[in-house]
Amino acid sequence: MNEKQLIALSLEAMEKAYAPYSGYKVGAALLCADGTVYQGCNIENASYGATNCAERTAFFKAVSDGHREFTAIAICGGKDGTVTGLFPPCGICRQVMGEFCGPDFKVYMVGPEGTYQEQTLSQLLPWGFRAEEHMKDSHDKKIC
Ligand code: THU
Repeated sequence: MNEKQLIALSLEAMEKAYAPYSGYKVGAALLCADGTVYQGCNIENASYGATNCAERTAFFKAVSDGHREFTAIAICGGKDGTVTGLFPPCGICRQVMGEFCGPDFKVYMVGPEGTYQEQTLSQLLPWGFRAEEHMKDSHDKKIC
């Protein structure tokens, strides 16, 4: 599974978005360490606050199926499903990524006409909050 294939699966997932309130359709394709891919879309709610982002849909599907190790995610989105620019993951989705993924986890943000931007989780979520045992590994090293 290369990044182009993962991006194609995120675009396919975007078609399933349930976004009657914002009109923004978002798709994600999450690559597990064993090669399995989980697709996710945003699922909006009349309360607005109960909306679930595409990325978290993909993560929660994967984790509830027993996966704990992840390599990369591709994300795309746009008004009415037309990708006109990058759709970077929101802060809550970055925090969920930080729960399960290491600093080198790759995030491919899809742009128009086959373009994409690659970032690592450590670039998108520097100094993220983690459970204490993980913080010892990542943050303590930075104290001098
Ligand atoms: N959305 C996502 O699916 N992922 C993000 O990371 C940011 C926002 C969705 C939520 C809502 O349905 C729509 O985009 C507009 O905010």
